[in-house]
Amino acid sequence: MTDASGQSFLVVGASGALGSRIARGLADAGATVSAHGRSDESLARLDLDGAHRLTGDLRQPALPQQLVDAATQRHGRLDGVVYAAGVVAFGPAARLDDDTLDDLTLLDFLAPVRLVRAALGVLGPGGVVAALTGVPAERPFPNMAAYGATKAALSSYLTAVRVESRRSKVRVLDLRPPHTETGLATRAIAGDPPSMPTGLEPDAVAARCVAAILGTDTEVASGDFG
Ligand SMILES: NC(=O)c1ccc[n+]([C@@H]2O[C@H](COP(=O)([O-])OP(=O)(O)OC[C@H]3O[C@@H](n4cnc5c(N)ncnc54)[C@H](OP(=O)(O)O)[C@@H]3O)[C@@H](O)[C@H]2O)c1
Repeated sequence: MTDASGQSFLVVGASGALGSRIARGLADAGATVSAHGRSDESLARLDLDGAHRLTGDLRQPALPQQLVDAATQRHGRLDGVVYAAGVVAFGPAARLDDDTLDDLTLLDFLAPVRLVRAALGVLGPGGVVAALTGVPAERPFPNMAAYGATKAALSSYLTAVRVESRRSKVRVLDLRPPHTETGLATRAIAGDPPSMPTGLEPDAVAARCVAAILGTDTEVASGDFG
């Protein structure tokens, strides 16, 4: 495992199935971690002694900047920022209501865009900003049109920012896991999940994410998760 001693990371969505595993993987590699969850209750599930805990609803536009500021202040510097929050919704496009469309856009596109913007203000050469997009960013699926569109939009944004960030030597990482057995589909904010083949193991997906965050990748395509 890559040694991340002396490095500091902010993991947003660290109360989630993948985010909590990524936060722990970074800590196991020696990094200090600021861990964000929506609330104290959700962060209570995070089994990570000594982590700096931050809370807040990512639908609030100011929160991503506040999280980056708080983590930077806590550690004196930031080496990496990871966006592992998000929601999913299912159902025919004609039936997705406005609240669902707003939440998908806020949590799966605007919040990570705001987080990347804030991260670029503090990360130095060698720093990394990473976000989980997913296989729908590569291939649209019926009954998850809006979810997939936010992921494709975020992936497109990351591609452009990656080029912009060459000069500052900040690495922009797009993580696109395929379906993973985290239970995300059971927490859908609207609709019922279609039947899907058994997904990948969350531990394996998170380990691949951590390796990419601590390595030199700029993207991990869905097919590269094994
Ligand atoms: N699971 C998959 O098959 C898969 C595949 C590819 C990509 N992804 C992406 O990976 C990311 C994590 O997925 P997961 O499976 O780990 O899902 P998860 O376990 O449901 O985690 C979602 C995270 O987002 C947070 N969150 C949701 N709404 C929020 C809000 N309004 N404000 C603040 N935080 C909020 C959750 O906080 P709480 O704990 O408080 O609810 C949790 O930390 C998502 O972006 C997802 O689209 C997942």
